[in-house]
Amino acid sequence: MSTTKIILGIETSCDDTSIAVVAVEKTGFAVRSMVTASQVLTHQKTGGVVPEVAAREHAATIMPTLMEALRRGRVSLANLDAIAVTSGPGLSTALLVGVETARTLAFATGKTLISVNHIAGHVASAWLGSAAPKLPALALVVSGGHTELLWIAQAKNPNAHLPTGVHGWGKVSLIGCTRDDAAGEAFDKTAKMLGLPYPGGPALSKLAERGKPIVELPRPMLNEPNAEFSFAGLKTAVRRYLELHPKLNSQQRANLAASVQQAIVDVLVGKTVREVKTRKPASVILGGGVAANAPLRTALAKALQPTRVPLHVAPLAYTMDNGAMIAVAGAFSLAAGHRTPWDKIEVDPMWELGR
Ligand code: KG4
Ligand code: ZN
Repeated sequence: MSTTKIILGIETSCDDTSIAVVAVEKTGFAVRSMVTASQVLTHQKTGGVVPEVAAREHAATIMPTLMEALRRGRVSLANLDAIAVTSGPGLSTALLVGVETARTLAFATGKTLISVNHIAGHVASAWLGSAAPKLPALALVVSGGHTELLWIAQAKNPNAHLPTGVHGWGKVSLIGCTRDDAAGEAFDKTAKMLGLPYPGGPALSKLAERGKPIVELPRPMLNEPNAEFSFAGLKTAVRRYLELHPKLNSQQRANLAASVQQAIVDVLVGKTVREVKTRKPASVILGGGVAANAPLRTALAKALQPTRVPLHVAPLAYTMDNGAMIAVAGAFSLAAGHRTPWDKIEVDPMWELGR
C-alpha cells in the first residue's frame, strides 16, 4: 500500500509520557495512535516539576502507554520499521526512562533505533498539519525550557522514504535563542506570582481573555538587531508591579495577565518577522507548547501576511510534548541516514540543536 514506514515515537523529556505510532505514507505523515500520560495533576501539588518525581511517574506509565499505543495503532512491535526516542534536551532522569525503554525494545526486536532531539520534534510537529512546510524554513520554537529561532535547510537530494513532495531536512542552524528565561518560563513564572496553577501558560492566557493590556511592561531586546531573546527582565518587572500594587482586584489581575501576554507576543513576533525579512525563508514554522497560545498564533500570522511567507503551526494536539512529533523528526533523521545502535544511545540533557 502507500505506507512506506511505521515509526514508534517515544517522548519522556519532561512531564508527559507520550508514545505514538506514525505511518509515513505517500500522502503525508499519518498518526495511527498517540497515547499520553500527563503528570500535570502530580506537579500541580508542588507548583512545578520535581525531576525525581517525574522520572518515577514515567517509569510507572511507560509500559501501559506503549501497550495502549500499539493496540490503538493496530500494530505489533514486529510491524515497526523504527523506534524514535527523545534523548535530549530535557530532565536527565526523565529522559533515561524513554531512552532505556527504547534501547531495550531495539535490542529485543532488532529494529532501527533513532535518537531524536526534542526541539527538532517541536519543529517536525508542523508536518502534522494539513500542508507540508516548504524549505528552507525559519522555525520559532517556544516551550517551557526553550525559545529558539532555527534555520532548517533543505536536503540536497529528495528522499524516497518521505511522503511525496516532502523534502528532507538539510543542515539545522541555530540563529538565536534566549539568554535567560524561555517564553514558556516567563508565562509560568508570572502566572505563579499571580497565584495561578501549574502549568501557568494556559492559566495566564485564560485570565488574559477578560483583561486589557494596559500595564506598561518592558519588551526586552525587541529593538536590538539580533535574534536573541531575554525574558528575565519581564518577570522582574511583574514582581515589582505586584510589590507596588499588592491588592489587585480581579479586573486588574486580568489586565496584568493580558499585559504580560502582550509583551511576550510582541517580542516573539517582532523578532521573528525581522529575521523573515532579512533571511527570506520559504516558510515559517511555529512549534512548542507556547504555540498553543491563540494570541501568539494570530499575531504572528497577521504580521507575516505582508511578507507572503506562509506560517505553519502544528495542530493544537501536537503543540505540547508528544510522541507523534518525535516519530516525524525520527523519519527526517532516518531519511538523512542517521540511526543509533542500541548500545550507543545516550541521554544528552543539554543537547543544543544547530550549534
Ligand atoms: O513544549 P512543552 O509542552 O514542554 C516543554 O518542552 O517545555 O511546553 C510547555 C510550556 C509551558 O511553559 C506552558 O505554560 C506553555 O508551554 N503553554 C502555554 C500555553 N499552553 C502551554 N503558554 C501560553 N499559552 C498557552 N495557551
Ligand atoms: Zn517541549
